[in-house]
Amino acid sequence: MLTEARQATAAPVERTATLLLDDFEAARLRGLAAQVTAEYRSVANPEFLAESTVIAHELPRRVRSFLNRARLDDIGHTVVVSGHALDALGPEPTPRHWREADTERSRAYAFLLMLHAALLGDVIGWATQQDGRLVTDVLPIRGQENSPISSSSHAPLGWHTEDAFSPSRGDHIGLLCLRNPDRTTTTVSHVVPAALGDAAREVLAQARFLIEPDPSHSRRGGTAVPRPVPVLTGPEDAPQLCVDRDYTSAVPGDAEAERALAELVAHIDANLYELPLRPGDLCFVDNRTVVHGRSRFRPRYDGTDRWLKRVNVVTDLRRTRPERLTSDTRVVGR
Ligand SMILES: [Fe+2]
Repeated sequence: MLTEARQATAAPVERTATLLLDDFEAARLRGLAAQVTAEYRSVANPEFLAESTVIAHELPRRVRSFLNRARLDDIGHTVVVSGHALDALGPEPTPRHWREADTERSRAYAFLLMLHAALLGDVIGWATQQDGRLVTDVLPIRGQENSPISSSSHAPLGWHTEDAFSPSRGDHIGLLCLRNPDRTTTTVSHVVPAALGDAAREVLAQARFLIEPDPSHSRRGGTAVPRPVPVLTGPEDAPQLCVDRDYTSAVPGDAEAERALAELVAHIDANLYELPLRPGDLCFVDNRTVVHGRSRFRPRYDGTDRWLKRVNVVTDLRRTRPERLTSDTRVVGR
């Protein structure tokens, strides 16, 4: 069933489309994921990466059609393919750390996410994030409860464009929810340019802002001086954001840019809404039209905590080539 919630007038506008799989489709997807897992073993297998777009043609037609529309939609916020069967996970506990999370039984879900992502583009990883893995894991880590990264829990994760600091950032962020016992929400927000002042809009579109990498990227901090960039681009009816609430600032001394950024931040705060992901929900966040974050929660560290598999998808792999060491690698950075 295809449902879409649109509120045409009042902000915040929620542009989320959901496709609910039927049992036959879920079984077919589960079978396909098991088959590719057995054949390729690792999502980083070069043979799998070369074939994943073609294999994705075997996904149910409704899924292909749904994600193709998401690919063409320049104002949509998120899409969710709901109802994936997670029975292979069985009693496997949520790992204590992302290093332990590429487990034998959860690997089929990594492949499942990669195959859906292949309908939107190509998956990249970061040399500086989770050891360059293409499928990363979002789970709470003890000792990082109040950190500003996705392994936090007690503190809300501030809204951001994923990897806003880099021109190689993903166009879509894919999330497959494996476990979410407290219905912890993903937060989403966007911009309505007409609601901003003319002066602010003009300034925000100019290269007068600095974006630092967040601490989820090891080794990057302090090594490179960011270049000034705009934070709001695109036409008024299809604006694109590139901003991280905690890591964006105006160029030092530019008071006008500072005021415009403060106006944008207040506007995005006011437009924030919640997207609850349930186990079996596979979501793509459009990393150009919206920013996203996460509400706070209390981790238990008993194997039942929230656990998502995550990918970064670029619609034009060649755009990332300057930051990839070779044509063959999908890992950005060195
Ligand atoms: Fe994120």
